[in-house]
Amino acid sequence: MGRRYSAPERGSATFPPSSHYLRHMDRKQFLSRSLKASVGALIAGPVLASSTSCNTAENNDAVVDATTPASSAATALQLAQIALPYAYTALEPSIDAQTMEIHYTKHHAAYVKNVNEAIAAEGVVAKDETDLLARVGTFSAKVRNNAGGTWNHNFFWQVMGPGGKGAPEGKVLDALNASFGSFDKFKEAFTDAGMKRFGSGWAWLVERNGELAIGSTPNQDCPLMDVSELKGKPLLALDVWEHAYYLKYQNKRNEYVANWWQVVNWNAVAERLG
Ligand SMILES: [Fe+2]
Repeated sequence: MGRRYSAPERGSATFPPSSHYLRHMDRKQFLSRSLKASVGALIAGPVLASSTSCNTAENNDAVVDATTPASSAATALQLAQIALPYAYTALEPSIDAQTMEIHYTKHHAAYVKNVNEAIAAEGVVAKDETDLLARVGTFSAKVRNNAGGTWNHNFFWQVMGPGGKGAPEGKVLDALNASFGSFDKFKEAFTDAGMKRFGSGWAWLVERNGELAIGSTPNQDCPLMDVSELKGKPLLALDVWEHAYYLKYQNKRNEYVANWWQVVNWNAVAERLG
């Protein structure tokens, strides 16, 4: 627990170009830390400037100007946005390219920028991202919302991918069958969690004390948070904020959820299970 890692040198990230100002950790690093529920990032470096509240706003454009307060750089915890592991077009037609690009470069990027700003401004001390989430109830709403937005989206990108078969195999299928009776029953319950989450939030499959559970969280709450109404190790997540689907599906969340199953990366779920 609490493993630290060194971030890539600034400027080493090349994808996507519009997010060049963010530090990126690569997919393998993220997967490893997610498996250990330890996606912590202790990164000394620039603190990104400007603020946009993510508490209620669906649209929160990122601001790309960055400054580096020398006084906080040495001790600042900074969270990172992973490099998207596929092209914006890769999840078509389930998720359109424009939605993917805006979701990643605007919404997700803004959470990362804002949490790093809040951490610096409030002098938040945490040994890593997991530690921050586990004690997020002691910090401000801005830290809570944007730390969640950062972690949740990093996770979300990983549990999706092109070439999905729509259903799991092997140990994931076995586990879902054992816990929910069948894959179809799991799918129905997970869909229900996403559909019944009023307003903005997430549907989750989590592992807790060796058992699987389905639930949802409001806003950007995450099952790794001390304040979350759903707790456990995330195995699968679905973003049901309108910004995740509105351009293509408008108000039809049900169609978005139905098509989303085609882009679930069941291998990523398997890597996290057990
Ligand atoms: Fe989102």
